[in-house]
Amino acid sequence: MIGGLCQKTFAAPNSSLPEKAVPVTQFRAKPCAGLQGETTVPGDKSISHRALILAALAVGRTNITGILASDDVTHTSAALAAMGVSIGQKPDGMWHVDGVGIGGMREPDQVLDMGNSGTGARLLMGLAAGHTFTTNFTGDASLVQRPMSRVATPLEIMGATVLCRSGDRMPLSVTGPQAPIPIAYDVPVPSAQVKSAVLLAGLCAPGETEVFEAQATRDHTERMLARFGAEITAVPENGGVRITLVGQPELIPTDITVPGDPSSAGFLMVAATVIPNSNVRISGVGMNPLRIGLLDTLMEMGADIRIENPRDEGGEPVADLVVKSANLHGISVPAARAPSMIDEYPILAMAAACATGTTTMAGLAELRVKESDRLAAIGDGLAACGVQSTSAQDSLTIHGAGGPPPGDGTVHSHFDHRIAMGFLVLGLAAKAPVEIDDGEAIATSYPGFAEHFGSLGADIQEVS
Ligand code: S3P
Repeated sequence: MIGGLCQKTFAAPNSSLPEKAVPVTQFRAKPCAGLQGETTVPGDKSISHRALILAALAVGRTNITGILASDDVTHTSAALAAMGVSIGQKPDGMWHVDGVGIGGMREPDQVLDMGNSGTGARLLMGLAAGHTFTTNFTGDASLVQRPMSRVATPLEIMGATVLCRSGDRMPLSVTGPQAPIPIAYDVPVPSAQVKSAVLLAGLCAPGETEVFEAQATRDHTERMLARFGAEITAVPENGGVRITLVGQPELIPTDITVPGDPSSAGFLMVAATVIPNSNVRISGVGMNPLRIGLLDTLMEMGADIRIENPRDEGGEPVADLVVKSANLHGISVPAARAPSMIDEYPILAMAAACATGTTTMAGLAELRVKESDRLAAIGDGLAACGVQSTSAQDSLTIHGAGGPPPGDGTVHSHFDHRIAMGFLVLGLAAKAPVEIDDGEAIATSYPGFAEHFGSLGADIQEVS
């Protein structure tokens, strides 16, 4: 942190620390006799955020199909609208964005509320750092606890001023410099959000901005920047990747199709694997090599998943998946795989709970600072459902039940969508139902989750 600026306490105008305002909704998942049918999953969350942001920076209209209409993405589109971008939706679901060009945003009148979305917040901080005005950010009760210095630090090196409340947390403000400085930055934690924030600020800087990642993370920003006509290269280096972006391009509008989210597909993949008598086809799932660590891991554990019809859609690999029930065995999941499945450990834990033998997972330090402390939430939830596990600061060991785990527990979701959905899947595979104390957060990434599973034969209901 330059000058320790992010250590200062800062109260953004017109904002107070948000309390969770939404009602609590309990859900119960009952043991399931089998999932059957064909389905798709909602659009990729990461790609949806990026599509809106890059379309906003292009000159002219971009049409986007398949965008994820979830709470997180809605917060990003509302923030862009508050910065002067016109965004609309046609009756057929297609979104259109009238971009204002690089550096063309206007200062928002109000604090930008990013809800639960770490991705929306961190990417837009990068965007804001490229503009000379001040942008204030806040979020919900979970987001205001998450660390922001990882993004503030490189943005300050680029010349922005970032003022956070104590603990480097939101509410915070970003004021861009007159002329952002193009930098070469080694990202200290594997984080696509940090990488993307630097690249978005670099769009406004003259000259070349470089980012080095020791471990490659999802490259949706790079792929999409290239698609919008930016000059960007990614070169392997020492087991990692060096990305170079030429600043101040004119981004050219392009039509975008958002593939199905492999992270959302992960819940179906695990459910159809661990619930006997299942056979599910999931069409149009994103197969970006930096996102499919869960698929590799499940295959290694003995899953029966066929990849069909691989294709390219708008610069991203996509395929259909056919998943059938299988008996899983425990394995050791290497730390090096973590970036390619960082959001999938909650659902992998449920697969491990049903497997025969022990599964160990390493390299999980980042799980402590997600929408909740996911290592703690998984351990507590598994214990409530009769499954043994142990965790250390950055690892997790699960002793599988070798079939349906006991279930019959109530799990705290900690307002974390992936914890909530993971334990509902466990309830479908368990001997007795599992309840979660609050499923409201599911809408941040997978609206209609319960109904969707219901259409394949699952019984997931709100508890009144
Ligand atoms: C995301 C990056 C990951 C991931 C998050 C989405 C993105 O976060 O956990 O859900 O879209 O860039 P980190 O960058 O913190 O690893």
